[in-house]
Amino acid sequence: MPGEIVVGLDVGTTKTCAIVGEAGPGGSVELTGVGVTPCHGLKKGAVVDLVATTKSIRESVEKAARQAQVEIRTVTVGITGEHIASMNTRGNVSVEHPGDEISELDRDRALKQAKVILCPPDRQILHAEPSHYTVDGQNGIRQPVGMVGSRLEVEAHVVTGARSYVENIIKSVERAGLAVEEDGIVLESLAAAEAVLSPDEREMGVALVDIGGGTTDLAVFQKGSVCHSAVIPVGGWHMTHDLSVGLTVSEEEAERLKLEYGTALTENVPESEDVLVHRINSEEPTPLPRKVLAEILEARVEELFELIGKEIAEGCKGKPRAGLVITGGAAQLPGILVVADRVLKETEVRLGLPRCAGGVADSVAKPPYAAAVGLVMLAARRHEQVSQEDGHLLNPMNGWLKKVVRSVFKGDPRG
Ligand SMILES: Nc1ncnc2c1ncn2[C@@H]1O[C@H](COP(=O)(O)OP(=O)(O)OP(=O)(O)O)[C@@H](O)[C@H]1O
Ligand SMILES: [Mg+2]
Repeated sequence: MPGEIVVGLDVGTTKTCAIVGEAGPGGSVELTGVGVTPCHGLKKGAVVDLVATTKSIRESVEKAARQAQVEIRTVTVGITGEHIASMNTRGNVSVEHPGDEISELDRDRALKQAKVILCPPDRQILHAEPSHYTVDGQNGIRQPVGMVGSRLEVEAHVVTGARSYVENIIKSVERAGLAVEEDGIVLESLAAAEAVLSPDEREMGVALVDIGGGTTDLAVFQKGSVCHSAVIPVGGWHMTHDLSVGLTVSEEEAERLKLEYGTALTENVPESEDVLVHRINSEEPTPLPRKVLAEILEARVEELFELIGKEIAEGCKGKPRAGLVITGGAAQLPGILVVADRVLKETEVRLGLPRCAGGVADSVAKPPYAAAVGLVMLAARRHEQVSQEDGHLLNPMNGWLKKVVRSVFKGDPRG
């Protein structure tokens, strides 16, 4: 029997990517369709042109649907941008029946408490990820349900976003004739982390860095859960822009030079190597030492990793022992890993490729698709959780009846 269809939609500063997956047992997913279109409707992760964003979403989803031969109605969509903020909070509750087993209800109440943070009306909570629980003073507990205790505490990483920014992403999706799934708005860095990190890395401590066009998204994990996240408003576009200004060339020419000759390692470029450059106000291309190109890129990349290093140091105790995993389109710049290693000193650095299965897996197992692959993986996992919960409650009802009952009791729009 075919599994449920899930769709990840990554609306980025340079491209929109929709990926269709077929959810399998245990939260697994087989990728069956992909659609990528350029997107010019976002700036530093925020919608600045609703029409362009909607068009890009519609086209990418249509392409993905055609390839997977399915109809797409709902999506799990990524979010990023400077408006994102995060903090670690605590929730603390008395267990409903002290001395008895801690129930799922007690756990949910503790998490709800952790969400009671100063969140003005113009902001909304996007995630509250529990990191660990404490039962009657005993800390480091991962799963408190079923344990005996009278006081339950949770420590959680809470991510908030500006309501209007979130609503504009939702609006773009809806104008494209789609709906966002319940709990279907996901921080891009958490999605990329899902696709590229191993459980062992998360356990040891690792920083995931997704360097896109307009932003660099960071998520740091320790002891298996996220402890810090941040959005740095610098990405591949800034490298291109530096070249455009530094070499007096158009942005298109700067992008071409970056993709064809770019490297972040000046030391690897021979003194004698020249590239032909089309400067503004000059009819004929002129030769330029490739070293100059590399120097400009190296300076920007160094600065970016200094910012990343600062973020990690501010957000976490100690260095992530499994180091840094870099993904996103700009992670493909030659030499970037060496520069990251040099700036961050004594930190393991590796390139993060999405791990995925299915007919289109090969075409998306590349850094620019990490977030989109992660979104579809998370959607599959969420579907598995929902069907497990329903299984407990509603066995042995069949699929459509479960959905009707769920929509009646939970006000679930998927009903
Ligand atoms: N081989 C390469 N070398 C250097 N940069 C590259 C290379 N390939 C792609 N890029 C850069 O990657 C960036 C796009 O990355 P990506 O597709 O991850 O961005 P996005 O998801 O659209 O943007 P964002 O995540 O910021 O919203 C562009 O700036 C592009 O120039
Ligand atoms: Mg991106």
